[in-house]
Amino acid sequence: MSAKIIDGKSIASELLDNIKEEIITRTNEGHRAPTLVVILIGENPASKIYVNRKIMACEKTGIKSITHNLKENVTEQELLKLIIACNQDNEIDGILVQSPLPSHINEEVIIEAINPKKDVDGFTPHNIGLLAIKTPILRSCTPYGVIKMLDTLKIKLEGLDAVVVGQSNHVGRPMFLELLLAKCTVTICHSKTKNLQEKISQADIIVSAVGVPNFIKGNWVKHGAIVIDIGITRLNNNKIVGDVEFDAAKERAAFITPVPGGVGPMTVATLMENTLIAQKLF
Ligand code: GUN
Repeated sequence: MSAKIIDGKSIASELLDNIKEEIITRTNEGHRAPTLVVILIGENPASKIYVNRKIMACEKTGIKSITHNLKENVTEQELLKLIIACNQDNEIDGILVQSPLPSHINEEVIIEAINPKKDVDGFTPHNIGLLAIKTPILRSCTPYGVIKMLDTLKIKLEGLDAVVVGQSNHVGRPMFLELLLAKCTVTICHSKTKNLQEKISQADIIVSAVGVPNFIKGNWVKHGAIVIDIGITRLNNNKIVGDVEFDAAKERAAFITPVPGGVGPMTVATLMENTLIAQKLF
């Protein structure tokens, strides 16, 4: 059996079309365009690409974007000042600070400075906490994108054994909470996990967010499993790959996301959705 390859690009594109329609309707009703501030610090090439994709999605949906390109040596105080000004500006609905941040800036301090009502990344302790108590509002974009993707494909998650690999604050942990909210039985694995292969091979759904090519071997995948690859690595030959041995895994899985073109576009689409939600609710 060969897996159905999940076309995240087309699912995301449909979501962007729906958001665009809703924004047109709201604009006709007299609302201003939702507005997203994107803060990019330094010259990280991957971050520049991601930010450009977010700005292009804003253009596609009718969201107004305001980009701040800050120098690598910007101080934490200067960055905090900008965030506080954005928090106070009633014409700004969402604030996104692209990570990673330079090492002299404390990411936790920066994230906690963002008003949770404008936290369209869903990274603040408040928004993670709302997800943890089953009342999410602004949900972390990548995990929420995974759930929306599976929902669009009408894949039922209730009761499935899920394994999340990776325990980062931005992806692994909120992914664990999203799958729990969807009533999966969830195991989260990390660098100290014993018998990783055994755990993965029992999973009905595997979500990997490690960032190491070929970390998940194809023959670890249970026949008929759902494989979601959030990892993204650019190899020396410029090829973009995920965490999963794709060719081998797709011969066993029922569904699998490719890299690129799987989860990545969903992250951008849910960011747009969060920006619209932030405007509507707050
Ligand atoms: N860096 C990589 N992915 C993301 C993301 O989704 N949001 C932010 N703010 N930074 C990132």
